[in-house]
Amino acid sequence: MNNSSQNIMDEFKNVADNVSVKASRKLKVGIIGTGWIADAHVLELKKMDDVEITCLADLVPGKAEKFAKKWGLDGVKCYLSHKELLDNEELDAVSVTTYNTTHAECSVYAMEKGVHVLCEKPMSVTLKEAIAMHETAKKTGKILSIGFQPRMDPNMKKVKEIVESGVLGKIYYIQTGGGRRSGIPTPFGTSFIDKNTAGIGAMGDIGCYSLDMVLNAIGYPKPLTVTGYKSDFFGKDPATYPTHPEYADIFGVEDFAAGFIRLEGGIVLDFRIAWAMHLDTPGDTIIMGTKGSLRIPSTECWNGSIGGPMKIYSKMAGSEVVTEIPMLKPTPKGNFYEKIRSFLDAVITGGKAPVPSEQIVINQAIIDGIVESARLGQEIKVELPEL
Ligand SMILES: NC(=O)c1ccc[n+]([C@@H]2O[C@H](COP(=O)([O-])OP(=O)(O)OC[C@H]3O[C@@H](n4cnc5c(N)ncnc54)[C@H](O)[C@@H]3O)[C@@H](O)[C@H]2O)c1
Repeated sequence: MNNSSQNIMDEFKNVADNVSVKASRKLKVGIIGTGWIADAHVLELKKMDDVEITCLADLVPGKAEKFAKKWGLDGVKCYLSHKELLDNEELDAVSVTTYNTTHAECSVYAMEKGVHVLCEKPMSVTLKEAIAMHETAKKTGKILSIGFQPRMDPNMKKVKEIVESGVLGKIYYIQTGGGRRSGIPTPFGTSFIDKNTAGIGAMGDIGCYSLDMVLNAIGYPKPLTVTGYKSDFFGKDPATYPTHPEYADIFGVEDFAAGFIRLEGGIVLDFRIAWAMHLDTPGDTIIMGTKGSLRIPSTECWNGSIGGPMKIYSKMAGSEVVTEIPMLKPTPKGNFYEKIRSFLDAVITGGKAPVPSEQIVINQAIIDGIVESARLGQEIKVELPEL
C-alpha cells in the first residue's frame, strides 16, 4: 500500500466490519462511461450521504457534461477518457460503466492508480482480459468487484443456502440459462450488438447472470472442458429492427449460445441463452443432486428475480415428495443499491469484494470457452492459472 492509500485507510480506522458503515469523510467516487447504466449508479450513489461523485469520463465529447447536468452534479470534473480522469483525480473508487470491450483496460488502469473498482458485468470480453484484471487486483491489493446485483436478492441467496445446506446431496448436473423471445437490446443504440463495443452478445448481457446464479451456489468450481455453440440468425436479419434495418449489418455478436461444460468435482453444466428465439423459454434452472433436486422456475435472473417459488424434489421415508420454498421479500433498498453499498463498505473497512474477481474469472472462462469451441467446432480444454 502506498502512502496516500495508507492515509485514506487510516481515516476509516474505527469502523466496524461486516456492516453498512459510514466513513469519517466523504468517499470520492468517479464514473467512467456515462451511458445508460451509469444512470443507475448515480441514482443509488446520490442516496448515500457519505459519497461524493467528483468526476466523470466519457469518450464522446460533451456526453459526460450532459450527464452531469441531467443529474445536477454541480462542480464535477469531466474528462474524455478513463486515463485522463485517473491521471488527474485522487479517488477512493470508480464505477466502470463502459461498454464491455473497455472494462479490462479501465479497471486495470484504475487499480494501477490505487483506486478500488466496481466494474459492470460482464467482467470482460475474453478470459485473458479477466485474468489480467484479477491479477492486477491481487498485485495492487485493490478491491475489484463485478456488478452482479442479483447476488444481493434474498431468493438468489436462498439458492446458495439450499445447496450449502446439503439437502441436495452431491450435485452432479445443472441446467441453466433462459432468455427472451424478442429482446436484442438496441433501444440506446448499437453498443450491445457491435463487436467493437460489446465483444460478446447475449452471453455478456444476460447469460453471465444465469452462470453466476448457479456457479455461486456451488462455490464456483473450475471448468475443465467446454463444448459451445453460438448463432446470430435473428441479429443478422434486417426484419428484426423495423425502424433500423441497418443494425443487421452492424450486428457482430451472438444472439444465441449454448454450452456443455464439465466442471471440477464431476459436475456437468448445460447452459443456453437467447436474446431472440421462437420459444417462450428454453427451460427452468435445475440443480440435480444425489439426495434431492432443485427447480428454479424459468427466471429473469438478470433482474434478480426468480419466476416463482422454487421446489425441492426428494424422497422422505420412501415417498417421493416435493417441497415448495416460500418466496422471500426483496431487499428494501433494492439489489442495485446493495451491490454498490456492499462494494463501498468493503472499501471503507478494507474488506473483501462482495463479488470477487477470482470467482468471475471462472464465469468468463466459460463464456470464452463457448466462443472458442464454437469457432473451432469442437470441445476445448480450459486452462486457468492459480486464482
Ligand atoms: N448491471 C446491470 O443491470 C446492467 C444493465 C445494463 C448494462 N450493464 C453493463 O454496463 C455496461 C455499459 O452498458 P451501457 O448500456 O451503459 O452502455 P453505453 O454504450 O450506453 O455506455 C457506455 C459508455 O462508456 C463510454 N466509454 C467506453 N469506453 C470508455 C473509456 N475508456 N473511457 C470513458 N468512457 C468510455 C462510451 O462512450 C459510452 O458512452 C455494459 O458492460 C453492460 O453489460 C449492466
